Amino acid sequence: MKVLVIGTGGREHALVWALSQDPGVEQVVAAPGNPGIATLQPAYDGQTIVCRPVDMADHDAVVALAVEFGAELVVIGPEAPLVAGLADPLRDAGIAVFGPSKEAAQIEGSKAFAKDVMAAASVPTGRAYVCTTPEQAAEAIDAFGPPYVVKDDALAAGKGVVVTSDRAEALEHAAGCEQVLIEEFLDGPEVSLFAITDGRTVLPMQPAQDFKRLGDNDEGPNTGGMGAYTPLPWAPEGLVEEITENVLQPTIDELRKRGTPFSGLLYAGLALTSRGVRVIEFNCRFGDPETQALLPLLKTPLGALLYAAATGKLDSREPLSWKTGSAVAVVVASKRYPANPRTGDPITGIDQAEAGGVRVFHAGTALENGELVTAGGRVLAVTATGKDLDEARQRAYAGIAQIRIKGSQHRTDIALKAARGEVTV
Ligand code: AMP
Ligand code: GLY
Repeated sequence: MKVLVIGTGGREHALVWALSQDPGVEQVVAAPGNPGIATLQPAYDGQTIVCRPVDMADHDAVVALAVEFGAELVVIGPEAPLVAGLADPLRDAGIAVFGPSKEAAQIEGSKAFAKDVMAAASVPTGRAYVCTTPEQAAEAIDAFGPPYVVKDDALAAGKGVVVTSDRAEALEHAAGCEQVLIEEFLDGPEVSLFAITDGRTVLPMQPAQDFKRLGDNDEGPNTGGMGAYTPLPWAPEGLVEEITENVLQPTIDELRKRGTPFSGLLYAGLALTSRGVRVIEFNCRFGDPETQALLPLLKTPLGALLYAAATGKLDSREPLSWKTGSAVAVVVASKRYPANPRTGDPITGIDQAEAGGVRVFHAGTALENGELVTAGGRVLAVTATGKDLDEARQRAYAGIAQIRIKGSQHRTDIALKAARGEVTV
């Protein structure tokens, strides 16, 4: 099978790597891809993995590339092209696409749309008011009381949500948004549960946890995600089944009933509160960096799985199968991330880290005169597997210790509480 993967990040690097492990995948083109994907070694004789430049916002150009390559499957990684509707012209061209239509991608593109779908499907989520004026926002903020949760209704690359006990800060964030959701504060550990779906059948992955704050002990600003681990040793029994039954399946059924079936990856971000599971948000694509932790443990061949989802054939498939053990992904971010990341810093030590057994997934990297340098906020994700979280953590941090980037930042406590048995529901 020939697969075209659209995107540039660490999630796409992990996807291309996992696709290359599927004996049914002969050729992968990643567009635009990144330097890590460009140097990925084929897993089999005769397999090819290459990067091609493309403007993801130019849908005609992406379709032309897919046709020229003879892609049998296109996997769209990031939310921006999905929400902009890139899947639609590809499908119109007769190509199987893993990723939702423009209409279905609204589940991530508009938080108000997501709340509406959840209300119709009786999916448990935080109570929220949709506000369009500062006066409405102030009223909602005071109705809930602190801590305040203020969410920009539009796509904001992980920076649209402010959780604060400072009323002035809450009001200020609300004032900067055209339409804003003021939401009830949800307490309790967070879980990311991803499901592969063809619009009807839902195949959940194993749960993961992401670390959104920049600093250790969940201090500092929200980021795109500073690390992840899977599975969750503390997860209550039956958690995946419960979320599938009460959240994922009803949401997929509701979207189909509306005439906008969702095919691709449905990402549920959840809080396990004292009153039960609540949806924090839906995303319409693989999460980053959870994907970098999940895929090294997935046994089911990824190419055939995504193709079955893209062609409406998931009903005949077995549940996903997983390797035993744990995986931990630690993100290395550039100096001054997330506010104003510095770029152009040389990156060294990746080969030494990988020689120690970790996998280094590139995100914000570039080649400048043959030298690997930082080119974005989140630069790399260092992923290790192990028999348990302790071993995976030790290996991941041994890998991190080999990598040198001036001024870079990483958390030192990814999966630490879980490894120590300190996460409670
Ligand atoms: P989101 O972009 O919706 O995932 O929000 C980013 C982060 O803000 C989440 O991962 C949570 O840590 C936090 N957050 C969002 N909504 C709530 C809420 N209602 N209560 C508590 N924390 C929240
Ligand atoms: N891990 C957070 C996200 O992908 O949005």
